[in-house]
Amino acid sequence: MKRMRVRSTGAYLPEKVLTNFDLEKMVDTSDEWIRTRTGIVERHIAADDEATSDLVVKAAREALERGNLTPEDIDAIIVATVTPDTAYPSTACWVQKGLNVKGNIAFDINAACSGFIYATAVAQGLIATGVAKTVLVAGAEIMSRFVNWEDRSTCVLFGDGAGVVIYEESDDDSGLIDIYLGADGTIGELLIQPAGGTRMPPSHETVEKKLHTVHMQGNEVFKHAVRMMQEASLKVLEHSGYTADDVDLFVPHQANIRIIEATIKRVGIPWEKTMVTIDKFANVPAATIPLTLHEAVITGKLKKGDLVLSSAFGGGFTWGAFLMRW
Ligand code: UT7
Repeated sequence: MKRMRVRSTGAYLPEKVLTNFDLEKMVDTSDEWIRTRTGIVERHIAADDEATSDLVVKAAREALERGNLTPEDIDAIIVATVTPDTAYPSTACWVQKGLNVKGNIAFDINAACSGFIYATAVAQGLIATGVAKTVLVAGAEIMSRFVNWEDRSTCVLFGDGAGVVIYEESDDDSGLIDIYLGADGTIGELLIQPAGGTRMPPSHETVEKKLHTVHMQGNEVFKHAVRMMQEASLKVLEHSGYTADDVDLFVPHQANIRIIEATIKRVGIPWEKTMVTIDKFANVPAATIPLTLHEAVITGKLKKGDLVLSSAFGGGFTWGAFLMRW
């Protein structure tokens, strides 16, 4: 089986920045509450004429340039998202159109905040089996279209953006070492966008009741997130024969700074080895991990040869972790 390594990364964040102080003018909240309860200071918001694939195309162009590749070099495009451009075509097919390529593999994955880890596992499958040599994996969201801007318990939490990682066949000892995935659909209603699908098709009533937006029982989700991010991180370390001491950089999903703090305490990773972007980007579900990996690369915190651990938890519920030699 062929191994897979990272060729390059890219990111795109929409120009508009919405601060906690801006939110104070929109709902009954405060910078102090948001900062201390979540760690978020500001988030990016897409322009009205931007769709999710537009963000991916910009992030992809950066990753292609950094990897010295052209769009024609990409054998497969996988977009992890819960906020696609359209129900169909997939966002990945819109990305093909944006990059002006055709004929390669293109499809989306929905595993909410764990989407990038799930998509990485699928990319590994395509490369290991020889179906593809070079795979572009994006995590991308425009959450601002699907939050209820009158609900302070959710609208302060999310942001928009896209991150891209290009994977390729590895011919040295760098690359993906191990990956662990899980899901529990029996309690999925704790974090849900109820309307817009076959269970509750769009109607005047669903729009009036704002059922096309995020509904979350935050406290419950919080507890599961801490437990499963810890479990996934420890499982992938244990299975691959490494310990927390071996990890050079931990890149967790960024849903709440208190979830990250509780996870690193339980896994045994020091704060200095933990990459945090929630202050600037907020929670950008499937995009968070590739955005944070790219931020680690451009700020010099992630270098060739480093051992990177990443873990996520999100709607579904879904969770996962991977260990990678950068
Ligand atoms: O991305 C993967 C999935 N998502 C997550 O992992 C998110 C997990 N959950 C969380 O991060 C946290 O539960 C939240 C940040 C969503 C909420 O924090 P919390 O500490 O669990 O607060 P809470 O829901 O228990 O609410 C505490 C109080 C309530 O007021 P009362 O009832 O105590 O008077 C809320 O009404 O804080 C109030 N509150 C707010 N106050 C000011 C809730 N949201 C806000 C707000 N500003 N934005």
